[in-house]
Amino acid sequence: MKICCIGAGYVGGPTMAMIAKQAPDIEVRVVDMNATRIAAWNSEVLPVYEPGLDEIVKECRGRNLFFSTEVREAIRAADIIFVSVNTPTKTYGVGAGRAADLRFIESVARTVAEEATSPKIIVEKSTIPVKTAGTIKTILAANARGVAFEVLSNPEFLAEGTAVADLLAPDRVLIGGERTPGGERALQTLVDIYARWVPRERIVTTNLWSSELSKLVANAFLAQRISSINSISALCEATEADVDEVANAIGKDSRIGPKFLKASVGFGGSCFQKDILNLSYLCEHFGLPEVAEYWHSVVAMNDWQKRRFTTRIVQALFNTVADKRIAVLGFAFKKDTNDTRESAAINVCRDLLGERAQVVVYDPKVSAEEIRRDVGCADADGARLSVAASAYEACEGAHAVAVLTEWDAFKALDFEKIYAGMTKPAFVFDGRNLLDHAALAKIGFRVEAIGKVVSQGQ
Ligand code: NAD
Ligand code: UDX
Repeated sequence: MKICCIGAGYVGGPTMAMIAKQAPDIEVRVVDMNATRIAAWNSEVLPVYEPGLDEIVKECRGRNLFFSTEVREAIRAADIIFVSVNTPTKTYGVGAGRAADLRFIESVARTVAEEATSPKIIVEKSTIPVKTAGTIKTILAANARGVAFEVLSNPEFLAEGTAVADLLAPDRVLIGGERTPGGERALQTLVDIYARWVPRERIVTTNLWSSELSKLVANAFLAQRISSINSISALCEATEADVDEVANAIGKDSRIGPKFLKASVGFGGSCFQKDILNLSYLCEHFGLPEVAEYWHSVVAMNDWQKRRFTTRIVQALFNTVADKRIAVLGFAFKKDTNDTRESAAINVCRDLLGERAQVVVYDPKVSAEEIRRDVGCADADGARLSVAASAYEACEGAHAVAVLTEWDAFKALDFEKIYAGMTKPAFVFDGRNLLDHAALAKIGFRVEAIGKVVSQGQ
């Protein structure tokens, strides 16, 4: 059996590497039109940083895992074609800023129809609006030359930074298909591949539309929990309740559960915001404005939380950060990834630069080039952004340190040393509630955290 995956990104690369590892008899070809990305997958430094991924790719690459730009050739040869292309928020025309941009999905469907000369199973791996499988089927049917296609939905639930662990032991694998004899056969083929390492009871099969919709709903529910606890963090700051204590107390209720209740500077990542906006847009499209508004508020609360963080920095620093050096520790949207898409750090840096601060960023995995590109350094504000080679370098001479990513290494920093090198009074704004606030206050720092009031030092 031959598998091809179109799209060698954060999802396509790791998911296919896992299939290749678990099914050495299946040839897996990951293709992408981005030659630089493919070259990186074939090099020593992979384009995606994920703990444990290098080992798997090294084990399988050249054996039954191949990365190439030969999209058409891979389509012709494959029995199963995973579509793992990007589905970003549309930036133009109807639905701009909310709807999913499906041009990459449609382009792949047309290429598959042009190239296929034997039966194919098309698997939607990308996150797409419910009913997209209908569009794919229509395009395939209109352009196929007698070739039989089956379309399945198999959304991916991995989280970045834990992709390998998530793929190895997923809570569930979801596969949606048509309840026709051909659809059932295709569904079973995919179930059998996952069943090589995933217990059968964790492989959930549904109709196409339930599967497509479940992905958007899962992300909306997860993000909703973060916005909920973040909204409470503001109330905690006003009342001297402690948001971590509140989260712990409510999370002990088995009906609520402890996960995804960590208050923060705001959620980031390529999925949550995009998928909720998409869900909200779909609701409106289907004549449900109240439902659309309900889900949109999750994103609105997140935007507010990000802005609120910068406002707190400005207010604490005596209502001006102009020409003050602010060290930003962490730029990735979460720890253990080099991904910066929709990272709260981007907003915070831009807002601080807009306040005329000198912003110095350090992140252990994100390149200086990426940081500059994300913040946008073309104007005078951008000229005040710099990137440091270490946390200590970033903090040297700073008026304040803002922790924006929860990298473990930040917990082990020598804050006595950092304090000694900073302008006084020295502030720490912990956007992740990562550090030992009492210890920092004892050193002399003025500490501001999310959803709690910290007893201050000098
Ligand atoms: P990505 O941008 O990292 O990768 C997508 C790749 O597809 C790019 O390298 C791009 O060059 C390639 N591509 C686009 N059109 C192509 C075409 N016509 N032919 C060949 N290659 C093409 O995106 P990603 O983060 O891997 O996400 C992919 C999909 O998976 C999205 O729909 C996303 O919502 C979903 N998803 C992402 C995550 C995540 O954690 N990143 C998790 C679950 C689901
Ligand atoms: C998310 C979903 O978890 C995953 O199932 C889906 O496939 C893709 O989208 P990801 O964006 O990679 O995964 O990371 P996730 O761990 O969900 O974190 C998203 C953002 O929320 C990060 O910025 C993270 O720091 C933040 N977060 C997460 C919080 O602020 N508090 C929490 O309690 C959890």
